[in-house]
Amino acid sequence: MFDRQKKGDRALLVLPHSRGEGDAERRAAEFAELVKSAGAEVLGVIAARVEPPNPRFYIGSGKADEVAEAVRALDADLVLVDHVLTPVQERNLEKHLGVRVVDRAGLILDIFALRARSHEGKLEVELAQLKHIATRLVRGWTHLDTQRGGAIGNRGPGETQLESDRRLIGERVKMLTKRLQKVQTQRGQQRRARLRNTVPRVALVGYTNAGKSTLFNALTEGEVYVADQLFATLDPTVRKLEDLSCGPAVLADTVGFIRELPHDLVAAFRATLAEARDADLLLHVSDAADEERERLHRVVDKVLEEIDAGDVPQLHVMNKIDLAGAEPRIDRDGDGRPQRVWLSAATGEGIDLLRQALGELLGGTRIQSELRLPMTAGRLHARLKAAGVIASESMDEDGWRLHIDAPRSVLAALGGEDAVPVREMVARLDDVPAA
Ligand code: GTP
Repeated sequence: MFDRQKKGDRALLVLPHSRGEGDAERRAAEFAELVKSAGAEVLGVIAARVEPPNPRFYIGSGKADEVAEAVRALDADLVLVDHVLTPVQERNLEKHLGVRVVDRAGLILDIFALRARSHEGKLEVELAQLKHIATRLVRGWTHLDTQRGGAIGNRGPGETQLESDRRLIGERVKMLTKRLQKVQTQRGQQRRARLRNTVPRVALVGYTNAGKSTLFNALTEGEVYVADQLFATLDPTVRKLEDLSCGPAVLADTVGFIRELPHDLVAAFRATLAEARDADLLLHVSDAADEERERLHRVVDKVLEEIDAGDVPQLHVMNKIDLAGAEPRIDRDGDGRPQRVWLSAATGEGIDLLRQALGELLGGTRIQSELRLPMTAGRLHARLKAAGVIASESMDEDGWRLHIDAPRSVLAALGGEDAVPVREMVARLDDVPAA
């Protein structure tokens, strides 16, 4: 048994479903993928029709007997249920099966714990884990031998410690909440500082495994962890995007979205997902070779709405055209604005089209604003005049009062030796509400 512990959990999966629910196979494959992401070995899968849910076990009691039988036969030490269970159902099942039972929320928390990389992400995960465990504390752990191996559901705060002093959890939750608030305030300040900057923000979003990290690398040639594993990237990684016609932009990679991300988890990870909410543009990546891409696209849109990012403009990226057998191209809407770009992040085909579309979309924003320039800024004034961005102007003893009206890309392109003052000027324009 000691050996087995070192190898990780030996898990039996239970997949509840109700009549008329489609794509059972995909759900099963996805859940198994999640389980493997958490480092467990999948011994077997049992489908369980749940109609109506049994209050005691969630699955029917006959099915619970079948699972107990399989646990013994396969010598499993963990049962993972692809649904959110109440604490009572989880306890009843554990008693009935004699092994640990972890539900979908517990499993996803566990994966988040493994993947969190930033300070903020780690704090969020620990807080969410503690809260999750706190609701399950009432039961005590005597019905299970907690010494018995495995990692899933046991990572993070240890159960015996929690049992011995529940007050400690309360204190830890308070402390973590305070620390998180502090980190978030700092982050907010950074964001405000960034907003004063002219550099537009782009965030990659998409269903898990769509190829966000690969695209991120292709665009930035940066080093970010890429893996064929769900949630490979929990914390946003941010890099500069160069060589766009609109001037530089900033690109953030975000966590992979997934079906039925438990609601309290979405709330818990709001800060981690804030990159998407605060972006000027979302690159919504889909796997063009996936027959279910439209449904998955809607799942991502729904999560975006939940984190208040539903209104951020999107450019759709149809990735993996090498698998889908499509040609690279840009689809445009009735006004000629880029709407969808077909490309392969892996082969690089179509990446140039994406850069082009990004330049068009980010550069197209029109800036209309008042700007005051001191008399000493004569050279800058001359440049602006030459570039044709001044709609009207007047002069008084403090200098020029200009009314600027131009696409952001034109202002950003006013580079050369005066690049810095121009950038500062555009930054100031951003602070003034558009006329
Ligand atoms: P999460 O972090 O789980 O959200 O995934 P992700 O969206 O960041 O996906 P990632 O970039 O890790 O890619 C997932 C898998 O798809 C990897 O095995 C990639 O190598 C593969 N992949 C990404 N883009 C392409 C592509 O254009 N063509 C092909 N054939 N494979 C690709």
